Amino acid sequence: MKIAILGQGGREHAIVASLARSPLVSNLLCAPGNAGIADHATCDSLDITDCSVVCAWATQHAPDLIIIGPEAPLAAGVADALRQQNHLVFGPSKQAAQLETSKTWMKQFCFDHAIPTAQARLCRTHSQALLALDSLPSPWVIKADGLAQGKGVFICPSRAEAINVIDALIKSKSLGAAGTQLVIEQFLPGYEVSAFALSDGTEWRPLALCCDYKRRDNNDKGPQTGGMGAFYHPEIVPHHLSERIAQRVFSPVFEGLRARATPYQGVLYAGLIINPQDDSLSVLEFNARFGDPECQVILPSLESDFATLALACAQGTLKEQTITMSGQACVTVVLCDKNYPEGTLARPYPLSLPPQPSQPSSPSSPHSVQTFHASTYASDDNTLYTRGGRVLAVTAQGATLAQARKATYAAVERTAWQDAHYRTDIAAQGRLPS
Ligand code: GLY
Repeated sequence: MKIAILGQGGREHAIVASLARSPLVSNLLCAPGNAGIADHATCDSLDITDCSVVCAWATQHAPDLIIIGPEAPLAAGVADALRQQNHLVFGPSKQAAQLETSKTWMKQFCFDHAIPTAQARLCRTHSQALLALDSLPSPWVIKADGLAQGKGVFICPSRAEAINVIDALIKSKSLGAAGTQLVIEQFLPGYEVSAFALSDGTEWRPLALCCDYKRRDNNDKGPQTGGMGAFYHPEIVPHHLSERIAQRVFSPVFEGLRARATPYQGVLYAGLIINPQDDSLSVLEFNARFGDPECQVILPSLESDFATLALACAQGTLKEQTITMSGQACVTVVLCDKNYPEGTLARPYPLSLPPQPSQPSSPSSPHSVQTFHASTYASDDNTLYTRGGRVLAVTAQGATLAQARKATYAAVERTAWQDAHYRTDIAAQGRLPS
């Protein structure tokens, strides 16, 4: 099978590495890809948000399946354009991807389908936003409606801070068109879990639950980022909670989309908050793609063949599939440029990486380490350099979370360059109730 992947980050490297292990896959293409992805796939530089460019590329290469990694091509309608040309696509339509691309649409969808989520007001004007502050208890969470590369969510304990954010978004258009409509909602306490499910438009299957770390620094301090690390554990929450996530979240989402004639094909990521007092759960956000870096722990932990599952989602044959996840724990730690997320690249640093395994971990190699590239490049003499932002995600598995964590950090220390920044508390403690 020939598979084409769209994207260029650590998530797409994890997707490509997982596909490269499949006995069904003979040929991988990626656009635009990165230096790590190029070890497994032929990479082509093209604008993956331009429907006609992507369709022409797909026509030229005729892949059996196209997997869309990031949200920007989904928002641009690339999945729809490819399907119109009869390609098999893993990734939802532009309509269904509104679960991620429009926070006001997502919130209304949750209200319409009784999916648990925080009380909220949908605001199109400055005066509606001020009224929303009056009608909801503080602290408030203010969300820009559109895609904002992880910079569109603000937690505001005081009214003055909330008004500053509203002014910046609506009056000064600090996030452009993405911030001219807002969701203002009640802040909910609890612990966060990222839940993933696969859907083929009719059937769906739970995939995995994991935890990510969005702040740059230890103890959840520092600026919000795309994600600094994640862990997977087969029993991350008790069974009754995973059942409830299926019944209260995934089932009504997929049924609701089907009832609106916008069936969902691909992976859906539900960002949840769980209140440890009563185990109640609430949806914070949906994403129409794998999380990054959650994908870097989910796919190394997937024992089923990902190529088969992705094809089943695209063909509508998920009913025939079962999904098996590893019984091991898995931890990933992101290494980033010291100026991430705000500044420009400090300077490119040369990288020296451990050899990558060709097979997933086995009882004889229980801690096999995988290093996923997010932002690297190879010079003419094939030296690998950092390119800024989130540069690498280092992943390892272990029989217990503590063993996976130890193996991951041992590899991180071998991999880190001078001035690399990474959190040292990923999967340490305190994220989940014991
Ligand atoms: N890890 C957060 C995200 O992918 O949105």
